Amino acid sequence: MSNRAQEHFGERYGGEGAAPRFEQWNEVIEALLGHRSVRRYTQKPLPEGTLEVLVAAAQSAPSSSNLQLWSVLSVQDPERRRRLAELAGGQAHVRDCGLFLVWLADLRRLGDLAEHRGVGHEGLDYLEMFVMGVVDAALAAQNALVAAESLGLGTVYIGALRNHPEAVAAELGLPPQVFATFGLCVGWPDPATPASIKPRLSQEVVLHHERYGAFERSVGALEAYDRLMERFYANERMGVQGSWSRHSAARVESAQALRGRDRLRAALSSMGFGLR
Ligand SMILES: Cc1cc2nc3c(=O)[nH]c(=O)nc-3n(C[C@H](O)[C@H](O)[C@H](O)COP(=O)(O)O)c2cc1C
Repeated sequence: MSNRAQEHFGERYGGEGAAPRFEQWNEVIEALLGHRSVRRYTQKPLPEGTLEVLVAAAQSAPSSSNLQLWSVLSVQDPERRRRLAELAGGQAHVRDCGLFLVWLADLRRLGDLAEHRGVGHEGLDYLEMFVMGVVDAALAAQNALVAAESLGLGTVYIGALRNHPEAVAAELGLPPQVFATFGLCVGWPDPATPASIKPRLSQEVVLHHERYGAFERSVGALEAYDRLMERFYANERMGVQGSWSRHSAARVESAQALRGRDRLRAALSSMGFGLR
């Protein structure tokens, strides 16, 4: 029995809606429901062996057909960290965290393997294989994140590595058909700036039964979420302007709103992905 898991359930929905009647609350669920991204770290080193344990957790994730179409790259060099932080829009935590991992969708290894065996690899030129690599990388990374949090470490993903995919690839020496999907900062959370559980949309918005429900059924719940998030932004002093709906819609208002990522397909093409 974990009461904290039930508490986290409540916090996950901003205190609105009670946890369901459920007999099996446990520490794993407590850890999952208690997640929050951490962007301020202390300089305390990570325990010896942390990298290897996190990678083993990552490799324990399921993988499509066990093709294991991903790799992970650890960046510790301070100058390289600084350059990556700049490429990611000046995110200081990329520089300051204890461990910075870049999660790669890696079709190259299978291509090399096919060549080594003297067979073709036309299949790698299809969008399906790219999706497989990205999904595999994401599942692996999330396993590492959960393992890190179970140790009391803080984490935050860095999708902003996709702002400049070619420059990131050059910085990391990535061969063709290897794509830095996102980064992950890992480190000891700075107790001076604790992060809170960020509420999510209510389950009535995201959970469908049998057939997809029309948007109209969610409008009221979305408005309630906006009010909840306005309070959260104010309490956390996040300086977010406007409601969650407003800034989320603004993220897709135009190609420019993608902040450079609108040219991802062209970048991937130049990096050797066929995406047919
Ligand atoms: C793929 C991915 C990329 C992300 N990229 C960034 C990023 O570049 N910088 C950042 O500060 N947070 C990033 N985040 C963290 C999200 O902003 C965060 O997960 C979200 O606001 C929910 O907050 P929580 O993780 O604290 O629950 C990313 C999250 C994901 C899943």
